[in-house]
Amino acid sequence: MTVPSLASSLSDSVTVAAASLGLPDLAPQVRRSEYADFQADGTLAAARALRRQPRELAAELVAALPAGGPVASARVAGPGFVNLHLTDAALLAQAAARLDDPRLGVGMPEAGVTTVIDYSQPNIAKEMHVGHLRSTIIGDALVRILEHLGGKVVRRNHIGDWGTQFGMLIQHRFEQPGPSAADDSATLRQLATLYRRARTAFDTDPAFAERARQRVVALQSGDPATLAAWRDIVAESTRYFTEIYRQLDVRLSDADAVGESAYNRELPQVAEELERAGVAVVSDGALCVFFDDIHGPDGRPTPLIVRKSDGGFGYAATDLAALRQRVAQLRADRLLYVVDARQALHFRMVFDTARRAGWLPSAVSAVHVAFGTVLGPDGRPFKTRAGDTVRLADLLTEAVDRARGVVAAKNPDLTGAALDERARQVGIGAVKYADLATGRARAYAYDPDRMLALTGNTGVYLQYAHARIRSILARADSGDAVVDTDAVLEPAERALVLDLDGFADTLTEVLAGHEPHRLCGYLYRLAQTFTAFYEQCPVLRADVRQRGNRLALCRLTGDTLRTGLHLLGIEAPEQL
Ligand code: ARG
Repeated sequence: MTVPSLASSLSDSVTVAAASLGLPDLAPQVRRSEYADFQADGTLAAARALRRQPRELAAELVAALPAGGPVASARVAGPGFVNLHLTDAALLAQAAARLDDPRLGVGMPEAGVTTVIDYSQPNIAKEMHVGHLRSTIIGDALVRILEHLGGKVVRRNHIGDWGTQFGMLIQHRFEQPGPSAADDSATLRQLATLYRRARTAFDTDPAFAERARQRVVALQSGDPATLAAWRDIVAESTRYFTEIYRQLDVRLSDADAVGESAYNRELPQVAEELERAGVAVVSDGALCVFFDDIHGPDGRPTPLIVRKSDGGFGYAATDLAALRQRVAQLRADRLLYVVDARQALHFRMVFDTARRAGWLPSAVSAVHVAFGTVLGPDGRPFKTRAGDTVRLADLLTEAVDRARGVVAAKNPDLTGAALDERARQVGIGAVKYADLATGRARAYAYDPDRMLALTGNTGVYLQYAHARIRSILARADSGDAVVDTDAVLEPAERALVLDLDGFADTLTEVLAGHEPHRLCGYLYRLAQTFTAFYEQCPVLRADVRQRGNRLALCRLTGDTLRTGLHLLGIEAPEQL
């Protein structure tokens, strides 16, 4: 059984104490404090509600706390907080319990909960760019965390594989056949070139534009040759995306790819139901949903367009069909969409429409997990010198190349395939960590020098901290890490036990706000606390009792760092 964190056991004790005072509604917030081990808040709000003096109420609470428990001392502080100091024995008992728990105190709060998560979502015949990087990495971390917490996760890679642009692409391919799909490697680059050429022809040659429009009609009506060409293009892009996912080590497979086209057959029905229910109305020939609180800059209402005036369906209709299916067939309790913050309005409208249509019952939550833009190293929009979008594939190659330099400098004996593998772990880890460590709503500058720094809040720093602990442990016997609960703790040891104890609660917080950066911040603090501990407390040279305790703390820290990094999708090699 997982042992609860110190913070949560304390909050139980405080709740019991409050109930004994006849204050069952006092909801204590027990959290780490700068001035004590923990601090219990909640008395302020309770005092206000009861029209009592907060310090007085806090003093009663302190008096009601059970004696002889883990609390060494409880004191009223400031306007009416309660500062709690724990006994060394309580901290050591907690460390001992953790040592026997492979889950490091993390429970299964997500058991029985199904989450459908929409992420990555690249577009066929286009390059994946840094926007898709964010969605892929954040989505992958959330998937890993949800699964670790016992949840059932259905991944949906909502690939952009449909739309009028395929008319010009296919038409151009028919008119100027290039190398066939069979010769791989450079195909996506060729596809992207094809896309640009087709676009230019479409914009400059009215006759071609007309033929492309005819081709859209042929595609929509299922003309076999046109469909075959479309399938070829989709297959080529998909192979390329799969290659990137493999390089990134994210858990997205072909089975998770359910592109926009998969919902085509349901679109007419979606429109019909919305219209019948009175949720959507025809306006200027288009089928629209209006919202009381959504207006354009001109003050006129901005609708969600379900069906365009030419009868075609677009992005919104597809998302509505997908949402309906995710709730009705996949039985989602929670829907997550990891998509660029610029699509906030779209998702607000889609969710609201679905609620009104009855497709999204109130028991099911729908969240747009929005993220900010990735900027260039100079803080300006991220473009190549020629002004093109930066290819994700190039960025990853560059990161791994630079990481090879960092690894080789630290470890000159490493060569060949082993060096390549380490460079991949470090380079990809650096890219992922730099992305995840930024609060997701914020924009950040993509800076390969900074993300590969050995010090500071980087993936490499954490991988290095983990490897250092592994090497300390390798110099001792595995049976040497034993906790002696009668020992007296140094301040640096207490700090480390308290930080280790926060792992499970951190994951709960990450999930509550869908914010992987909280896990990054936690791991970074843990590594720093460990460094301070290691500087102040000799481990291998300590006397036998202290050595056992300190080795136990090393092992717990190493395991927590490794598990945490894995939950972020980052590997933790034994050596760096
Ligand atoms: N393919 C779109 C893009 O690249 C993102 C799709 C987001 N997901 C969704 N269900 N709308 O911008």
